[in-house]
Amino acid sequence: MQKIAVIGTGYVGLVSGTCFAEIGNRIICCDVDEVKINSLKRGVVPIYEPGLKELIDKNTAAGRLLFSSNVGEAIEASDIIYIAVGTPMSDTGEADMRYVKDVAKKIGEHLNGYKVIVNKSTVPVGTGELVRQIISNHRKYPTVHFDVVSNPEFLREGSAISDCMNMDRAVIGSTSDKAAKLIAELHAPFGTSIFQTDLESAEMIKYAANAFLATKISFINAIANICERVGADVTRVSEGMGLDSRIGGKFLQAGIGYGGSCFPKDTFALAHIADQSGYDFELLKAVIRTNDQQRLLVTDKLKQAIGSADGKRIAVLGLAFKPNTDDMRYAPSLSIIPELVELGASVRAFDPIAVESAKPLLPEEVQYFNTIEETLEGCDACIILTEWPEIVSMDLLKAKRLMKETVLIDGRNCIPQQSIQQHGFTYHSIGRRP
Ligand code: UGA
Repeated sequence: MQKIAVIGTGYVGLVSGTCFAEIGNRIICCDVDEVKINSLKRGVVPIYEPGLKELIDKNTAAGRLLFSSNVGEAIEASDIIYIAVGTPMSDTGEADMRYVKDVAKKIGEHLNGYKVIVNKSTVPVGTGELVRQIISNHRKYPTVHFDVVSNPEFLREGSAISDCMNMDRAVIGSTSDKAAKLIAELHAPFGTSIFQTDLESAEMIKYAANAFLATKISFINAIANICERVGADVTRVSEGMGLDSRIGGKFLQAGIGYGGSCFPKDTFALAHIADQSGYDFELLKAVIRTNDQQRLLVTDKLKQAIGSADGKRIAVLGLAFKPNTDDMRYAPSLSIIPELVELGASVRAFDPIAVESAKPLLPEEVQYFNTIEETLEGCDACIILTEWPEIVSMDLLKAKRLMKETVLIDGRNCIPQQSIQQHGFTYHSIGRRP
């Protein structure tokens, strides 16, 4: 049993902290945001993540998971300190390190014995060393030792608990063997393989992994666009490519591009890190450009299908950047819906979870509905932006009766081909044959 403080109760901190508690450790999840901590203490979880609330309730009841807004006290009471604060994208594209630096300072001020400081936030290469320096400079007791470790996270929103409990690998980077061993032991109950390396390489692995996955997505999206022009079917192409074990079938689902808090931010940050190091990462910049252009295809396809959108009633199904989350960060809907409104369309939107987070971010003209059926009523076209299970399995026969025109623009290539053919929809996808 380790005594661990996890600083930052955002997505990463909350999920990792809860999973560490689940495998038997005593965790204090802390944050300077008192409102958030108070609601967590009352059992209100600020993010939507399947299974998270249940696991938090279970571990708080068992006394293994505590919440506190007294970060200093939590540091003093723990032997391992996880830094899991946000590193948002700044105007220049680089990661904003303000919160990481604040936490490092605080750790220095409260370092009352040997501790291992672990960085879980996605941070530029060299941050481990920076954290070490800040802690040293603010150490209250200069004779007290500490070590710094990089242990990046690879959780996906929507499946974070299972990703954490069944992780592919734990990447552990440190200059100290003793600290790396401690963090490796902490991961033993997960039964995962441990990849031990130096601090800088561990920090780079996180960026490189996200950039590579984003590259796979932009690559298959570009292939989808070519498939449309030459008469091939991208779903068959990605299946056929994915069977090659050197390529692998994952992250080859073509669509309107990636969103979320990670790929857009981390690809920008890595391109910026490369620029600063004197290397022009043209390949990654093209990945970002391809992704930005991909979401524009939706309105092009709509115009192709119905002519002008002016005065037309358009149903938009799915607002979140992906299913099983209410996260709207860099969601394609944030670019597509304002464009539809601008074109004079009357937009009717549905999302099973994300409506409340979407409302403040979307034009006020947008109307929201509780069911797919209500949303589709009298519509000239339906656009799918997120492949929620209820959207994928929607009743197309009913949809056909409710809609004025049977035009379906499937931005996620997710509607079963058989049902489209059976119900005779005018179907537009991203490089997939109807
Ligand atoms: C991503 C990574 O998958 C995680 O490993 C990583 O830990 C996380 O970022 C992070 O850095 O914190 P996440 O953004 O939650 O996780 O979601 P993904 O499931 O990776 O999806 C990202 C985006 O790519 C979504 O918009 C999704 O719709 C899109 N995508 C994904 C595709 O368009 N095609 C695919 O084949 C796969």
